[in-house]
Amino acid sequence: MKRAIIITFILLVGIFNACVHDPSFVEVDPDPTDTTKTDTMPTDTMSTDTTGNTAGCDTSIVYFNTDILPIFMGNCAISGCHDVITKEHGVAFVNYEMITSSDHIVPFNLDKSEVYEKITEDDAKEVMPPTGRMSADKINLIRRWILQGAPNNFCEPNAGGCDTTKVTYSGFVSKALTTSCNGCHNSVTKSGGISLDNYAGVKKIVDAKRLYGAIARLSGFVPMPQGQNKLDDCTIKKIKTWIDEGAQNN
Ligand code: HEC
Repeated sequence: MKRAIIITFILLVGIFNACVHDPSFVEVDPDPTDTTKTDTMPTDTMSTDTTGNTAGCDTSIVYFNTDILPIFMGNCAISGCHDVITKEHGVAFVNYEMITSSDHIVPFNLDKSEVYEKITEDDAKEVMPPTGRMSADKINLIRRWILQGAPNNFCEPNAGGCDTTKVTYSGFVSKALTTSCNGCHNSVTKSGGISLDNYAGVKKIVDAKRLYGAIARLSGFVPMPQGQNKLDDCTIKKIKTWIDEGAQNN
């Protein structure tokens, strides 16, 4: 009987030791000093954070819809450069998905983001856009946005109230359409046969009763802008007001 107890004891010690020295057991113990681990980085904000702060724009945050997209549309997604047809080097900067594809933008990492490298290039022959370095303000917005994780975040710029009086084509509509639609609907690219960078092209699509339904994303219309968040409510309301008032060239 005594012998049996001793044998059991030895066996138990043996099993216990085997566990302690089992390499797989040691491996599951995380090393708190290991800083290469990426699972604590909020990389999931990159594609899922589409709501952002919709109740208004927080000035400490850089938003994709109001800060970043207009820079890309105005400086890069123009005909002859990175619009959907031209696609210099296979790159079209017309919506979030395309701007953040491959290594153009790497969340949290300026060094690996090709776009950041190109826009801060010292060599005048290499810098993007080729017309010359963008203003420091614009470069800084892109820098902060990448360091924020390059989210597809959205804010409603006129959440405090939307002024729909005196909406004109030159003062509002043309600018709004250029900002969000230019990369695909300029006079050269004309996706879907539509150009929205000139009054005649816009009027034609208003008369065909296709503009409002597309931006308000009503059923029976192809939702626009393609691949982007819906335009903010105030912009949609203002464009509707302008259409309802006769879509004049004012
Ligand atoms: C990424 C490219 C892209 C962007 C950005 C884009 N469009 Fe389009 N748009 C297209 C394509 C492609 C079509 C043709 C779709 C089809 O016929 O299936 C189209 C079609 C349309 C149509 C016709 C839809 C219909 O149902 O008749 C309208 C109107 C339109 N776009 C307006 C806009 C407006 C306004 C914007 C900006 C607020 C915009 N688009 C931004 C690519 C784009």
